[in-house]
Amino acid sequence: MENLMQLKEVCLRLDSDFAIQNLTLEVKKGEIFGFLGPSGAGKTTTIKILTKQLNRESGEIMLFNKPIEQVVRDDYDRIGILSDTSALYERMSIEENLKFFAEIRNVGKGAVEEILKRVGLYEQKKRPFKKCSRGMKQRAILAAAVIHKPELLFLDEPTSGLDPAVTLEIHKLLRDLNQSGTTIFLTTHNMEEADKLCYRVGIIDRGRLIACGAPQDLKLEFARDEIEILTKEKKTITVSKNEEGAKKIQELIAAGDCLTVHSQEPNLEEIFLQLTGREF
Ligand SMILES: Nc1ncnc2c1ncn2[C@@H]1O[C@H](COP(=O)(O)OP(=O)(O)OP(=O)(O)O)[C@@H](O)[C@H]1O
Ligand SMILES: [Mg+2]
Repeated sequence: MENLMQLKEVCLRLDSDFAIQNLTLEVKKGEIFGFLGPSGAGKTTTIKILTKQLNRESGEIMLFNKPIEQVVRDDYDRIGILSDTSALYERMSIEENLKFFAEIRNVGKGAVEEILKRVGLYEQKKRPFKKCSRGMKQRAILAAAVIHKPELLFLDEPTSGLDPAVTLEIHKLLRDLNQSGTTIFLTTHNMEEADKLCYRVGIIDRGRLIACGAPQDLKLEFARDEIEILTKEKKTITVSKNEEGAKKIQELIAAGDCLTVHSQEPNLEEIFLQLTGREF
């Protein structure tokens, strides 16, 4: 698959305590790439570098097949950004807000109606932004970020602070956008969100990329060679993935003594713990 973005040994020192160090990764056209890490790991800093709000000190960045220095104003119309501080005008209605963004982005008025329907806010379009629920607000902010149908969308913690129902709504919208061709680069604290949504994830810690790959591949890579069986007496038996283990499982199943069988692949949080020795 073609790369839409490519970083090679990107470095930026912000202060004596923190630096993005040798960040190397690629984002493929059509994927949802999750950039995961604890607070202060460097996620927002990385998005700022990629959207030219901060300048790297060294390394190479390719965007749309050209060095980031050569990315011009017109290319920026191919990008959408939802930052950690994105908001809309409180007193204006959702529709007025989106008309404003349509103008900035130089897209026709038809785009407003289309995006309102797509994010499920058409019926409530006259409501002032400040009177919207959290879920509506976040959908409206997302609508503003994608009104021009960007090829590449940067999302800095799009579900941070949202309840599970609203989070699910946003996930659905992101999948929908992705299915219609938008490549998404998303940061999150939420390992589960990354696991569910992302084709591939990079885990960053203290400015360094410590793991990168498809969630399932990472889990398999860090998997333990063990299988856990829960017996009828609610006892947990652990066996190895070998002939002996297979025999034991077979015996337990044949005896009707097996409630559950689980292979022990870790979740992304446990992988972080294994790599850093610290909780996420
Ligand atoms: N403009 C700045 N000048 C100096 N240091 C900064 C600046 N912006 C951020 N930092 C520091 O850089 C580090 C990384 O911050 P960053 O905002 O990229 O983290 P993050 O992964 O986005 O965290 P969070 O999950 O809390 O949003 C932090 O230690 C932060 O204090
Ligand atoms: Mg951040």
